[in-house]
Amino acid sequence: MTLLEQLQQKFRDALAGLVADPGPYGGMVKPTQDPRHGDYQANCAMPLAKVLGRPPRDLAQEIVRRLDLGDFLEPPQVAGPGFINLRVRNDWLATRLQEMARDERLGVERAGRPETIVIDYSSPNVAKPMHVGHLRSTIIGDALARLLRFLGHRVISDNHLGDWGTQFGMLLYGYKHFRDEAALKADPVREMVRLYVHVRNLTKPAEADEDEENGASKYTPEQVAEARRILEEVRRETARLHEGDEENVRLWKEFMPICMKEIEPIYQRLDVRFDLQLGESFYNPMLPSVVQELLDKGIAQLSEGAVAIFVSDKEGEPPALVRKRDGAFTYTTTDLATIRYRVKELNAERILYVVGAPQALHFKYLFEIARRWGYDRVKFEHIAFGSVLERLPDGKTVMFRTRGGRVVELNHLLDEAVVRAREVYEKNRADRIARGEEVPELTEAEKQQVAEVVGIGAVKYADLSQNRTSDYVFDWDKMLAMDGNTATYMQYAYARNRNIFRKGGEDAGPFRTEPPLPSLDAPEERALALQLLRLGEALQAAAADYRPNLITAYLWDLAKVYSKFYEKCRVLNAETLALRRSRLLLCDLTARVIQLCLQLLGIRTVERM
Ligand code: ARG
Repeated sequence: MTLLEQLQQKFRDALAGLVADPGPYGGMVKPTQDPRHGDYQANCAMPLAKVLGRPPRDLAQEIVRRLDLGDFLEPPQVAGPGFINLRVRNDWLATRLQEMARDERLGVERAGRPETIVIDYSSPNVAKPMHVGHLRSTIIGDALARLLRFLGHRVISDNHLGDWGTQFGMLLYGYKHFRDEAALKADPVREMVRLYVHVRNLTKPAEADEDEENGASKYTPEQVAEARRILEEVRRETARLHEGDEENVRLWKEFMPICMKEIEPIYQRLDVRFDLQLGESFYNPMLPSVVQELLDKGIAQLSEGAVAIFVSDKEGEPPALVRKRDGAFTYTTTDLATIRYRVKELNAERILYVVGAPQALHFKYLFEIARRWGYDRVKFEHIAFGSVLERLPDGKTVMFRTRGGRVVELNHLLDEAVVRAREVYEKNRADRIARGEEVPELTEAEKQQVAEVVGIGAVKYADLSQNRTSDYVFDWDKMLAMDGNTATYMQYAYARNRNIFRKGGEDAGPFRTEPPLPSLDAPEERALALQLLRLGEALQAAAADYRPNLITAYLWDLAKVYSKFYEKCRVLNAETLALRRSRLLLCDLTARVIQLCLQLLGIRTVERM
């Protein structure tokens, strides 16, 4: 149990004879904002006083009398209208910290009831270059997979590739009409991308016209007609592929590995791995049986030649189609087949979909259909997220998709991150040297490694530290800042901390096998100890709400109490040898907690920078 959970339990026990259902009141224990009010505060006396018709301060006193302080609480104080201020005993904190140091998991418990959780994330439509739009799903999904796995769940990460859609129709059409044999031999990946982009551009006028109903189109009627003709051809190529046309299936099998070559290096660079990559094509053979089952069970019905499921009776929410009039299956059909597979074959108890907010209605329908279909014991969650924006020179923000009319490919974005990280790092080194600080001698290769770790880390942290559901503005300077709530700051704090041990000629090993009992007399030492011990609380909260930003917020608080500690408390030349060991232990724990949290966010650290 985390400290918070223990406190809540104690309050539930204390309230047991006072109120029929102490559960919610026991839950009203929160960390305090101001350390002068103790470490935690219980606010249950006021609402409970209303229910029981008693003066709140009296009631608070009684609750305190009933509270079993165990070996970890100082006698509580009743304050104001009936707040109960709680302070953890120093000797208890010190012992917990010592235990934490000995534990590889830093005292974080595993889930009492581990679940099999499938996480569906990244899931790009292949055959077109990955762009910034794919960043959030990939990064957030990976962080959640790492976190839930660390908490003891059986996590199956699945990249549900869009490997069966219209984009292959475009590729097939492009290949058949525009391929450059020499280019295909020399650099098949580039040639595939070129073919896709070329056909995509040819068909654009058709969409523009559809979008702008009767407004003036940028294109001439001839261009629109030609685009429509090509789009029709593209649809036909896609349909032929789905019907099992020999040539198209053969070509698809040739294209797929080439497409995967385009995206795999990106995952490698992002340090993102999947247990499974079962794309849409994998489910194709199962689709007819899904529709049949839904019809047999009376969940779906024939409607104007299509097979439809009436999920909602709200106006403006049309039925979900699982088979179109022309016989084609839909995104929904595939997702239903995927659910059946994940539950039956993978024993999924929980399925998380890390997909942008615009697909909310799709998932709402999907989960409702799955429930009617009989998958009502599975927990489904749409882990939605907002968009990445860009601030224009005039201050307006727009979707961050294109630059100078071209899609910003993820590959190039990551290259830019590393180049910029290198610049920031070189400048920081120069500043440190100018200030007379010690700077580690690094080889060119090591510096490049630092730039890679810092650059990619910055992009990830900037994303993960946002409230998941909001949009955010992509801002290089902010994300690479050396101070502030950034990966760069945390990575630097980590490396600096490691440097203390090097400078002091100390090996961290003994602080993990035979940690001393730390002394927590200075308020800064105590504040740091308490924050370190809250690691478990932070991870639980992040997992419960699928919010990695609760981990970054925890890290940011940790960084702040650590720097106060480091300012006030001498470490290597502490007053006594015992104090030096005690403070080194606090440093080592801080480094380990930073490293673990970053690791759970998918962000690497370097020992020297
Ligand atoms: N490929 C889809 C897209 O790019 C996302 C798939 C999400 N996963 C799912 N099971 N629907 O929009």
